[in-house]
Amino acid sequence: MNKRKYKSSPLLVLLIGMFLVGACGKKNEAFSDRKVSFNSDWSFHLNDSLKDNDTISTTTAWRSLDLPHDWSIEGKFDEKSPAGYGGGALTGGLGWYKKTFKVAAQDSTKITTITFDGVYRNSQVWINGHYLGKRPNGYIGFQYELTPYLNYGDQNNEIIVKVDNSKQPNSRWYSGSGIFRNVWLETTDKLHVAQWGTYITTPKVTNEQATVQLETTVQNQNGTAQKATLTTTIYKEDTKVTSVTQDITIVANTRQTIQQKTVIDTPILWSVATPELYTAITEVVVADKIVDQYTTQFGVRSFKFDANKGFILNGKQVKIKGVCMHHDLGPLGAAINTRAIERQLEILKNMGVNGIRTSHNPPAPELLDLCDKMGFIVMDEAFDMWKKTKTPFDYGNDWDQWHKQDLIDQLLRDRNHASIFMWSIGNEIPQQWDESGAKIAKELAAITRQYDKTRPITAAMNPPVNMNIDEVTLQFDKAKVQYNTIAASGALDIIGYNYAHQTYAFHQKNFPGIPFIATETTSALATRGYYDAVSDSLKKWPVRWDLKFTEGNPGNTVSSYDQVQAPWGSTHEATWKIIKKYDFLSGMYIWTGFDYIGEPTPYEWPSISSYFGIVDLAGFPKDVYYMYQSEWTDQTVLHLFPHWNWKVGQNVDVWAYYNKADEVELFLNGKSVGTRSKKGDDLRVMWRIPFQPGTLKAVSRKNGKVVLEKEIKTAGNPYQLQLEADRSTIKADKNDLSFVTVSILDTKGTLAPNAKNEIHFSLKGNGKIVSVCSGDPVSHESYKGTKHTALAGKCLVIIQSGTTSDKLELTAKANGLKQATIVISTE
Ligand code: GAL
Repeated sequence: MNKRKYKSSPLLVLLIGMFLVGACGKKNEAFSDRKVSFNSDWSFHLNDSLKDNDTISTTTAWRSLDLPHDWSIEGKFDEKSPAGYGGGALTGGLGWYKKTFKVAAQDSTKITTITFDGVYRNSQVWINGHYLGKRPNGYIGFQYELTPYLNYGDQNNEIIVKVDNSKQPNSRWYSGSGIFRNVWLETTDKLHVAQWGTYITTPKVTNEQATVQLETTVQNQNGTAQKATLTTTIYKEDTKVTSVTQDITIVANTRQTIQQKTVIDTPILWSVATPELYTAITEVVVADKIVDQYTTQFGVRSFKFDANKGFILNGKQVKIKGVCMHHDLGPLGAAINTRAIERQLEILKNMGVNGIRTSHNPPAPELLDLCDKMGFIVMDEAFDMWKKTKTPFDYGNDWDQWHKQDLIDQLLRDRNHASIFMWSIGNEIPQQWDESGAKIAKELAAITRQYDKTRPITAAMNPPVNMNIDEVTLQFDKAKVQYNTIAASGALDIIGYNYAHQTYAFHQKNFPGIPFIATETTSALATRGYYDAVSDSLKKWPVRWDLKFTEGNPGNTVSSYDQVQAPWGSTHEATWKIIKKYDFLSGMYIWTGFDYIGEPTPYEWPSISSYFGIVDLAGFPKDVYYMYQSEWTDQTVLHLFPHWNWKVGQNVDVWAYYNKADEVELFLNGKSVGTRSKKGDDLRVMWRIPFQPGTLKAVSRKNGKVVLEKEIKTAGNPYQLQLEADRSTIKADKNDLSFVTVSILDTKGTLAPNAKNEIHFSLKGNGKIVSVCSGDPVSHESYKGTKHTALAGKCLVIIQSGTTSDKLELTAKANGLKQATIVISTE
């Protein structure tokens, strides 16, 4: 993470002041914010392809909005959308953004740049009529210098951004469209730390001492050489840890990279459980005046991937329990919001997840900042395709011209993040099956090593076997291994395979001495809250890829018992059992943590979002979440399902996930129906019992002592709505969000598990309803509306603050149900 803006605490300001006055004899001065948000007050126009002829004119109608913005999420789901169901049946198109702004007269002696963290896709930018450039890749950050073209003082400047996402399909999943990440305006002295200009590594780490290597690129945009001192000071929170200073001379109009070295004594190591970070403040000082200040966060940790012991972090073996995530934020679409990402990570952390794979592209910088802070092992992935396209208009078409720069920019942007432990150079690249795969893999690996030697390189590949689900070749023969040209190329430090869990046990025979990571696993499917009452007699849709929904469950639902999978995948249990068993398997990244828009495998209208998530699109966990929680966390778990509303006499399978106990006893209306224990590598217990309404109760025990009790009651008719906010006080900063869960309850407060009422929302106060969602993959109601139909008794409404402190009053109403109101304070 590189920020020019450093929010100093008063103590830190004092410390820096004392240091500058005391140690260096330099005077303290408040350093103004260098990097400011440039998200507010943009105008937007979505081209009408028939009328607009790809241009804007004086008659163009604009609407005002703040960034980040995703225009696709505002559209209607359409079976005939050119993006296809893979793209979530939403549309792309061609959009224009413009913003008028002034730059203070005193900044005319400075350098001004604009940074876009990501624009999907094919952006072109103009400032005051001057063309600045183009970036086809929607996920990469880029910067343009504005200085030569700016007007200063009272005169206006106009920036125009054209975003062309009209050629569809260009993605296998929902991409979103527009300036969907943050935009920043940066003002620096002509002598300054360059963009992504610091690289901090810790080549030697022991408990006693860490060596810190500082590589700083200083850019001199003056017409004369500049003499300065370069000081890097490392802080742990507000305490100065160490500092290093050097005199530098930078020739006119050049940039120079300066190496500095220092040590941190008794370093506080970054780990998943204790994600401790250090802050380096780099200062460029000319004639006793700080002319530039640049902040970099980093972590001190040692790690390796071992062919026998898997992933070792700070000397200890850590199994990577990761999930893959696409960049969309469910009903908010692809427009990034830091709180929404943080909530996803909180939900995953609570399940025991310790790893995130940024499938299949560089993520928003805010995700990486949060992973640094919250403790996740990130696999930062560059590409979903190389030169060979996967969809007709995707990045493969831009490969030749852009891949090198995009990869370098990703590495420069991301390489200081403590949470990143490996680079993935691609996902299921079609060239893995021909000779060009080896050549490109070597080229990408060489670029990656040039910019970062501290992390291993992998690729998410498919194993070189015919993965027929019924007949699996468990061990490769040499000839077949060669068949995957990327795996065989020698370019990779870690062999990464997607799926084929049946082959993992044989990895050491197939690739002796090379570590392994399951880059992508599982692809199991479920609709939250839906069950076939008797699980193994009704493995309906989609047990097989080639079956249609019409042969499966009505309404395109998928049973939430962990029994339904894509044919190339497995149940959740099957893959985890293998990963758990072998030390040499570093871990896995499950497809996926959250459901995402698009790719409703198999493609079958009216489904428009995925079923793969352990958590649904709204952020509500599906049952298997608790299997992982019982295995991956220290929390005491007893999770009982399904719901208890069935036909009298019908056989129902009751499952329980539990831990920290040696047995679970189940009672129906007070009468025991049996005690069960997990045997061998079992991950749950099950009872099959005829349904009687009433109360189902599970009691887990250890050595005869009760550990936990859980009850599920038969619900009566839906009677009332209930609102619960994840946070009832949020910041009045126009960004913060409160996620409110709406539950439909009976008269006694029991969740009505089959309720699907349409709920209407209204909000009073300085804030707005920004999204509604039930997590239902077949719903075509807009996420941007103020009404939504519940799924399995639940729905989510997301409230965003305004700019003034207020008490926001959210009311939910549904025909025939008692309404509910909740107050959310903004301050
Ligand atoms: C994988 C692919 C993912 C997703 C997944 C669905 O092969 O890498 O992007 O498509 O299949 O199961």
